[in-house]
Amino acid sequence: MEKMPFRDENPTMNVQAVIEAASGASVTSTDWRNGLPTLTGSKLTLRDLRLSDAPSLLAMLATEEVARFISPPPTTVEGFERFIAWTHRERAAGNYICFAVVPEGTDTAVGLFQVRQLEPGFGTAEWGFAIGSPYWGSGIFVEGAKLVVNFAFEVIGVHRLEARAAVQNGRGNGALRKLGAVQEGVLRKSFLRNGEYLDQVLWTIMDEDWRQAKAVWGVTVH
Ligand SMILES: CC(C)(COP(=O)(O)OP(=O)(O)OC[C@H]1O[C@@H](n2cnc3c(N)ncnc32)[C@H](O)[C@@H]1OP(=O)(O)O)[C@@H](O)C(=O)NCCC(=O)NCCS
Repeated sequence: MEKMPFRDENPTMNVQAVIEAASGASVTSTDWRNGLPTLTGSKLTLRDLRLSDAPSLLAMLATEEVARFISPPPTTVEGFERFIAWTHRERAAGNYICFAVVPEGTDTAVGLFQVRQLEPGFGTAEWGFAIGSPYWGSGIFVEGAKLVVNFAFEVIGVHRLEARAAVQNGRGNGALRKLGAVQEGVLRKSFLRNGEYLDQVLWTIMDEDWRQAKAVWGVTVH
């Protein structure tokens, strides 16, 4: 739930794309600015946020353990509704996307994957994620992450995907390492949390590395 800056340029990319992911996961997209496609995996579905997701997101994400190392999530249902409305405006403006994480067999959002452009045209982008702690270690993260990273590279046209994780965030760093992200360095005292500046690890995935890895193991789940 990083602060997402507004950008005033619209990327001009071909987003008419159909990508077929391995292991039965498939994606069909027209123009993501008008609405995100539903990405389907074996354990979860990723879709656009709905205002009605606010109560479950509040219950899942506004907890001490989830929020410890991320920008503070909203603390009320209304706050989450405002956040959800903002994600739709930012998507329509071409700056940002946010997928809801919906476990297979339910219609309840239990987490988020966000991707925002760091430069006009989305060539360099940053992603972030948070999932309710009952679903940690369930495999939902890895499957969702692969679908989102694939979407960023193959549909949005991202070339370099960055992530920042507080050095103390064991699960966040472990999750990125497991996906094959490369640790480029440590951003010293770059993240203000509870009145204290924390160091963050800068992780990156490049489009060509992703395609190469995909050719070997596909968009499969560990
Ligand atoms: C980040 C998050 C989405 C990852 O989802 P998850 O289901 O916990 O991730 P996984 O369990 O698949 O992977 C985490 C990995 O880190 C490892 N790990 C856990 N604690 C660790 C620690 N202290 N040090 C190192 N690795 C650790 C786990 O063992 C696991 O690897 P494994 O599957 O090889 O055993 C989830 O933990 C979350 O929402 N955290 C709170 C929000 C957050 O911090 N977001 C990240 C901002 S960068």
